[in-house]
Amino acid sequence: MKKNNIHSDLKNSIKNIDSYTHVRGESIFVDDVNVRQGTFFAVVFDSPKAHGKIKNIDYSKAEELEGVERIFTYKDILGENQIGGIIPDEPLFAENEVHYCGQPIALIVAESEFIARQARRLITIEIEELPVITTCKEAKEKGSFINAPRSFNLGNTEKAFQNCEYVFEGETFSNGQEHLYLETQGAYAEPLENGNIKITSSTQGPTQVQKTTANVLEVPMHKIEVDVTRLGGGFGGKEDQATPWAIMAALATYHLNQSVKLILNRHDDLRMTGKRHPYESSFKIGLNKDLKILAYEVEFLQNSGAAADLSPAIAERTLFHATNSYFVKNVKTTVLSCKTNLPPNTAFRGFGGPQGMFVIESAIAKVADELGVSAHKIQEINLLKESDVFSYGQIATQVEAQNSWHSATKQFNLKQLKSDIEIFNKSNDHFKKGLALMPITFGISFTNTPMNHARALVHIYQDGSIGISTAAVEMGQGVNTKLLQIAAQIFSISNKKVKIETTNTTRVANTSPTAASATADLNGKALLKACNALLERLKTVVSEEYNVNKNSVEIIGETIHINNKKTSLVWNELIAKAMLKRVALTENAHYATPTIHFDKTKEKGHPFAYHVYGTAIVTTTVDCTRGTYILDSVKIVHDYGKSMSKGIDLGQVEGALVQGIGWMTMEEIAYNKDGKLLSNALSTYKVPDIFSVAKTIDVLPLETKGNDMAILKSKAVGEPPLMYGIGAYFAIQNAIKAFNPNYKLKFHAPMTPEKVLMGLYES
Ligand code: MTE
Ligand code: HPA
Ligand code: MOS
Repeated sequence: MKKNNIHSDLKNSIKNIDSYTHVRGESIFVDDVNVRQGTFFAVVFDSPKAHGKIKNIDYSKAEELEGVERIFTYKDILGENQIGGIIPDEPLFAENEVHYCGQPIALIVAESEFIARQARRLITIEIEELPVITTCKEAKEKGSFINAPRSFNLGNTEKAFQNCEYVFEGETFSNGQEHLYLETQGAYAEPLENGNIKITSSTQGPTQVQKTTANVLEVPMHKIEVDVTRLGGGFGGKEDQATPWAIMAALATYHLNQSVKLILNRHDDLRMTGKRHPYESSFKIGLNKDLKILAYEVEFLQNSGAAADLSPAIAERTLFHATNSYFVKNVKTTVLSCKTNLPPNTAFRGFGGPQGMFVIESAIAKVADELGVSAHKIQEINLLKESDVFSYGQIATQVEAQNSWHSATKQFNLKQLKSDIEIFNKSNDHFKKGLALMPITFGISFTNTPMNHARALVHIYQDGSIGISTAAVEMGQGVNTKLLQIAAQIFSISNKKVKIETTNTTRVANTSPTAASATADLNGKALLKACNALLERLKTVVSEEYNVNKNSVEIIGETIHINNKKTSLVWNELIAKAMLKRVALTENAHYATPTIHFDKTKEKGHPFAYHVYGTAIVTTTVDCTRGTYILDSVKIVHDYGKSMSKGIDLGQVEGALVQGIGWMTMEEIAYNKDGKLLSNALSTYKVPDIFSVAKTIDVLPLETKGNDMAILKSKAVGEPPLMYGIGAYFAIQNAIKAFNPNYKLKFHAPMTPEKVLMGLYES
């Protein structure tokens, strides 16, 4: 295997600028913000029932408890009791009905969190229970939906199925997933003068927080300032669902004219917040005798929970990624967002894409199993190529599906891997190995075209240091480091001269959330524009000073060069000169992704700036006595474009992969029939630990020309690698099959050791 020089590459690669304070425990999260004297602490009182009419709530004992300041309910809302972002179907506080266990009903504000928690136990509530829906199938039977279904269609599946040699149908289930950001949801609100409120929030969407708070309080947006230092992880869970806690803190601040802090503890967070959407889906796939997929139909049932939240957008992305890395000429995909009595499910890394891809991978695995061929043969035959059309009308360009596939199978020697496994399986009775390939294709851009914009505000201070504000929220993904690199590179100055400011709605307004993996692209391109504008101005200063052509001026390593010759003028002096010449040293730039468009009436267009590709080879060993398994290796060729921050990007690939493996193999969200969360603690919800990570993870960059739509040709990396984890699901089943030839493939994720054990011994 060709080992590339990734380790020497990493040595030269910039470190995440937060690593120093992270390691020393000095990084500031919401709970670390110094609170003002007299700050109150809040705890949410939530519904103990999944569905019902509120008959009576008795707050009197709680209110009487010493140290309790006030309890807020919907009656204290002056504006709209409404937080729904896409569809206005979600109250901040329940009024007369509750729709899920964990639904906020009231906010208890007290001198300490301890007192607020004590008070919560003193509240009594009577609920007249109504029927509870927890699954998509029940919701579908009862006609309980969030909105109208959506369908993406290409060609004519009905006709195509008639010409198919092989047609198979099947059903799949993929479970939800808990975000488990290390920092739980929370916000700190403080009163400023004239009724203005500043909110420090752990949110991916500062503008969403500002806008919704203003609407609930019925004040103009300019009265609400939202500031974000960084998040201890978001993973989509704070794109929309950081908002209610921020509003609640602000509402209490509004009434009490005092600072209020609301941080959910882990238990409350697990119970009250939505997760990745479980999907129940059914597919029909048809192939010709050469194993070319001619037709693919799928109906996705999305378990949206009790309110829309981001479900419609997530459903849409499921359709966009329903055929993953494959070209299928005839496609009919439909998604139904099912309204159930679970907490509203929400964005989670991949945003519905993984759920869509799991189904077509299941369909291919089913065909392979039925025909007795290996799945990767079918996968390979059907990979996308240049100029193929996606079901949504976008023509595939700069396609790397085949390139990454062949690069992975060659560089990692798939033949050898397969024969090693065969030999192992022949000579071992109690352990069996399995292998699967997982290609990915993920579209970059918010699928909602109007959201693809960002701004950057750059100040060059008169001493030559720089402060940068954008809409980007740092949540561990390293976007601040990338922004810093961009400015340092454009001006050719030391990284130390550049500071990335907090994300604040008064400096950068009307922003899209940090999401869709597009943050570095959108904000980075805005920053690039702002820096280039400043650079032009500075070059003009030099050209006037030295009476030379502006185009001959260059800054290299903080020194001004003219016609490729070093001058004695350095960066700091140039800035000082610019000040004397009264040149503006501040710039604000706006970037909106060009060329993208989408027509929802036709469900056709060109929604993505580009796609990210890659291929993973996953191998596993199953202990056939116990049903346990280890992942031996994950070998990936990933399309980074031209990575600008190799260490950070590798971290994103590894982190996303492990999160994907967790979703596919062990994380098991469980609600009972009454809609109560059973997996409500880390003792009952298993997330990947160091032992469940693959023993080896190799990630090789795909050699490409890069894509100009990506920032400095460095492609978005945040979400796509999560879907490599789907390979683990199928690798494990291939190992089960090697032990038990009677085993019928299952498409019911996660593939937990319990399920493996049952499979090993089923007849
Ligand atoms: N990485 C870390 N460490 N923490 C996170 O919360 N969120 C993921 C991904 N990587 C996340 C992360 C998700 S869901 C998205 S959409 C992207 O980062 C968002 O950041 P980006 O647009 O800068 O890639
Ligand atoms: N990805 C992530 N978040 C989003 C999107 C998307 O495509 N659209 C709206 N919010
Ligand atoms: Mo990511 S799910 O788009 O926040």
